[in-house]
Amino acid sequence: MGDITLSRVVQGYWRLTSWGWSPDELLHHMNECLKRGVTTFDTAAVYGGGECERQIGKALALDPSLRGRIQLVTKVGIVPGDGVTSYSHYNTTYHHVINACKECLKRLGTEYADLLLIHREDPCMDPRECGRALKALKTEGLIRAYGVSNFDPWKFNALYHAVEGELVTNQIELNPVCFEHFESGMMDLLADYGIHPMIWSPLAGGKLFTGTDDEILRVRFVLSELAEKYGTTESAVVYAWLTSHPVKALPVCGSNRIDRLEEALEGVETRLEHMDWYRIYTASGQKVLR
Ligand SMILES: NC(=O)c1ccc[n+]([C@@H]2O[C@H](COP(=O)([O-])OP(=O)(O)OC[C@H]3O[C@@H](n4cnc5c(N)ncnc54)[C@H](OP(=O)(O)O)[C@@H]3O)[C@@H](O)[C@H]2O)c1
Repeated sequence: MGDITLSRVVQGYWRLTSWGWSPDELLHHMNECLKRGVTTFDTAAVYGGGECERQIGKALALDPSLRGRIQLVTKVGIVPGDGVTSYSHYNTTYHHVINACKECLKRLGTEYADLLLIHREDPCMDPRECGRALKALKTEGLIRAYGVSNFDPWKFNALYHAVEGELVTNQIELNPVCFEHFESGMMDLLADYGIHPMIWSPLAGGKLFTGTDDEILRVRFVLSELAEKYGTTESAVVYAWLTSHPVKALPVCGSNRIDRLEEALEGVETRLEHMDWYRIYTASGQKVLR
């Protein structure tokens, strides 16, 4: 990915502040991930109101040698408001991106982020101004690479051209009940540019296994048949589906359980027969082949 290499599966920490972990427990988790080759960790300025980054910073402070062996991904551009004196908005202006990134680094207790993403597509973004900020952060050595998250093809292209093609990823939601980025043409654009997306909520936030509506039940039926066929678990089949696509996506696992991370790792090593990719694509009923 441009100037950086991320692990094939990324560990996501969006839910970290709900896990009630001490810095020691988080450090232990990071080391268990590393033992399995998962070296990239995903967070954002807004996760837990900054607390997620702070907790990662505290864990890293316990073993500073870890920093050089991991990649930290964080995101800026969302500004939460209190609804009384301020209102939630996006901000991708030059000064905000620069300052928000510096705040992230302070909370993480690190001198650089490996990858900085613009968290959400901003309808009021000036691609040249935002691009100038990202370039400046990289030139200053505060970030190694940059990209976006949740962008549609139009905004992606505008920023991509403003930074002469330096965007390394678009972190997007994709799973067997979410096809937004197939529909928008984003997947085709990324394939065209040879850019690998990062995939958030690969298991639809767990809904694939806890949901009870008809759509979910149809997907689960197909997943259970394929799990039996490939001698693996249903969630490994989902990770196999995500990574069998030619765009070569990097899924971001959101579980705090190492056994579930191992299922993800098993999945990305599993190659689905071509026709089985379409069984999952059509399983929910949202997609129909003509
Ligand atoms: N860029 C963005 O806008 C954006 C948005 C959302 C998320 N993200 C990133 O993507 C990461 C992953 O997102 P996510 O957490 O939604 O991913 P996910 O892997 O789809 O969902 C994780 C959730 O599913 C549960 N789960 C997993 N397997 C299960 C099973 N077999 N049965 C029941 N529950 C199961 C987990 O519970 P357990 O912990 O108990 O296993 C956890 O609560 C986040 O951590 C964050 O870093 C980015």
